[in-house]
Amino acid sequence: MEMILPIFFIFTLLFSYSQASVVDFCVADFTLPNGPAGYSCKNPADVTVDDFVHYGLEAPGNTSNIIKAAVTPAFAAQFPGVNGLGISSARLDLEVRGVVPMHTHLDGSEILHITRETIRAGFIASDDKVYYKTLNKGNIMVFPQGLLHFQVNSGEIPAIAFVSFSSPSPGLQILDFALFGNDLLSELVEKTTFLSDA
Ligand SMILES: *[C@@H]1O[C@H](CO)[C@@H](O)[C@H](O)[C@H]1NC(C)=O
Repeated sequence: MEMILPIFFIFTLLFSYSQASVVDFCVADFTLPNGPAGYSCKNPADVTVDDFVHYGLEAPGNTSNIIKAAVTPAFAAQFPGVNGLGISSARLDLEVRGVVPMHTHLDGSEILHITRETIRAGFIASDDKVYYKTLNKGNIMVFPQGLLHFQVNSGEIPAIAFVSFSSPSPGLQILDFALFGNDLLSELVEKTTFLSDA
């Protein structure tokens, strides 16, 4: 009895723990208000397999723009199943000479996986050292969290890549928009960038 009682209690404890505390997922519910930690969780009883499947990366993005490129995100905002899981994805389409301009994801590191053609990609470390490479189909490259990076199609046909992030909402800030597409007075932009208005 002296041995059996503690063992019984341990099993009871383990069983009730696994029943009560394990949360497998937190599918984002956009109909509920956001909390400080992000999206609210959808009621697990209403979750279906379709919450864990996303079709938005099947089709190429629209590259009829000045950068000749499209980034199609599958972040928590588009793919509620990744909410709370620390991961997300996106698709890159780059026309010939298309560019994903210098940008950063403040909340996540990135792995780029080339699936078509050749992409020149790189990042700038916080000591301003540059790391870049020309990548071919099947190659992958990692971009550490928060660092400025870019991708350029250096091939002869449109390029495709898929990216994975270590965050369900990695964010995206494009350097040129941050510097020149903001509400600051031109005078202040000139002063703080040492560039002339022209
Ligand atoms: C792609 O974007 C361009 C420019 O915004 C637009 O004119 C065109 O209709 C779009 N194409 C498709 C297929 O959505």
